[in-house]
This record gives sequence, structure tokens and C-alpha cells, in this order.
Amino acid sequence: MSILDKHGVIERNASYLLIGSLIVVCIGGIVEVAPLFYFQNTIEKVEGMRPYTPLELAGRDIYIREGCYGCHSQMIRPFRDEVERYGHYSLAAESMYDHSFQWGSKRTGPDLARVGGRYSNEWQVQHLNDPRSVVPESIMPSYAFLGTASLDYSNIASNLQANAYVGVPYSPEMIAAAQADLLAQATPDADTADVAARYPKAVFGDFDGDSRHVTEMDALVAYLQMLGTLVDFDTYDAKANFR
Ligand code: HEC
Repeated sequence: MSILDKHGVIERNASYLLIGSLIVVCIGGIVEVAPLFYFQNTIEKVEGMRPYTPLELAGRDIYIREGCYGCHSQMIRPFRDEVERYGHYSLAAESMYDHSFQWGSKRTGPDLARVGGRYSNEWQVQHLNDPRSVVPESIMPSYAFLGTASLDYSNIASNLQANAYVGVPYSPEMIAAAQADLLAQATPDADTADVAARYPKAVFGDFDGDSRHVTEMDALVAYLQMLGTLVDFDTYDAKANFR
């Protein structure tokens, strides 16, 4: 009896075929999945990436609370039209500290992955207050209420701690200083040396022009202004080309 005749038994009996297929699929699955458990990291390490400052993290929570992701993606795909419009395509490492990631699946408005630094703080505040005052054809809703809502940052240290639990490298020192760092980033003329050392490239200032209290607007604009600015693509490209 040749091997092909034995195979006939499997082909004529649905239960055998099913069991046989399951075994083969399991082996294939294990071969694909098992190595991932032994890798330290599946994301390429990229210079410049750091966790969000406490103020940026608070702003990110407002971005999520307000559902900005419903109209905005944060993922530039490696296509020419996208790269010409938005800048260097997004790297996996650029969202490695995002829990949850904000890639999105809908672009009613433009991608925001690299909106940081593209406009002034004043533009951002004006646009969020009244989008049509700066972009007449805009259909984006107004978020003016963020400018009067005081930011609730009482739980900011636990917020950092929670992120640390899932792998974001916040040190105990960063967690202990979370409230102070948040205030320093949003207060003009504050002593910001410590924050700048902990979080390179952090943008400081009174974002919404109202220095009496830290508002939700301050936090959201601090977040928008850092999006996509951490990796220096001049050096990143050079490394990729010459490796
Ligand atoms: C109903 C859909 C919608 C929602 C929700 C929305 N936006 Fe927009 N957004 C747009 C559209 C459309 C534009 C393009 C026109 C304009 O600039 O206003 C835009 C533009 C922007 C821009 C300028 C981007 C650029 O590159 O010019 C920023 C920044 C922005 N939105 C931030 C936000 C934030 C933050 C939120 C949440 C608080 C938000 N948007 C919610 C539709 C939306």
C-alpha cells in the first residue's frame, strides 16, 4: 500500500480530515507565535522616544475623552502622497508608549501624527475655540469649553504609575514629581530645568494664554504640540541608509 492510498482514508472521512487539518494548523500557529514569546522586544528602538510628560499625558486623556480619534488618525502610512503631506511615515516606536494607541481608522480631518510644532500655540487655541475662524470651510466642532475647564490633575501620579505597570519607563522619581512637573510645564517662568532633564524636547509655556489656572486646553495643546516631534529624522534616516 503506497502512502497515497493511506491518504485516501483521510480524504474520504470528514472527521479524520478535520482532525488532521487542526493538527497541521496548530503546528503552523506554534511556529509563527512561539518565537514572539522569546523576543525581548518586537519594536525597533529609536533614539529620541520618551514617555509623555504629565501635562501631555493629561492632554492625551482629554483627546481620548473628546473622541478626537473619531475624525483624526495618528498614523502616516509609507505612501508618497501621505509622506509629502504629513512628513516621515510613522514608526512603530513612535506609539510604543501609547496605551491605547491612537492610530485611528477615520480621517474626516487630517492625520495628526506630526502636527506638533506645525502651528503656534495661539493658532491651536484659536482653532479649538472656533475652527471656522481660522479655517472657514472647517466642519470640526468647537471645543471652547476646554479653555474654561480647570484641569483635574489630582490623579496624575497614579496615571503615570498605571502606565508604568504596563511597561512605560516612568521612574519612581518621575511619578513622585508628576504634579510638580505638570504645573511647571504649564506655568510661565517656572523653574523647568528638572522637567526638561526628565523629558527632553518638552514644550513649556502658558499654552492657552490664561495664566490663572491650568486648563484642559493647556493640557490638550501641550499634547498636540509634541506629536511626532521626538524622533529626529535627519539622524534617523542617515542611520538607516548607512547601516
Ligand atoms: C467631526 C470631525 C472632527 C472632530 C471630532 C475633531 N476634528 Fe479636528 N479637524 C477636523 C477637520 C475636518 C479638520 C480640517 C479643517 C480644519 O483645520 O479645521 C480638522 C483639523 C484639525 C487640526 C489641524 C490639523 C492640520 O494639520 O491642519 C487639529 C490640530 C485638530 N483638528 C485637532 C482636533 C482635536 C484635538 C480634536 C478633539 C478635541 C478634534 N480635532 C476633533 C475634524 C474633526
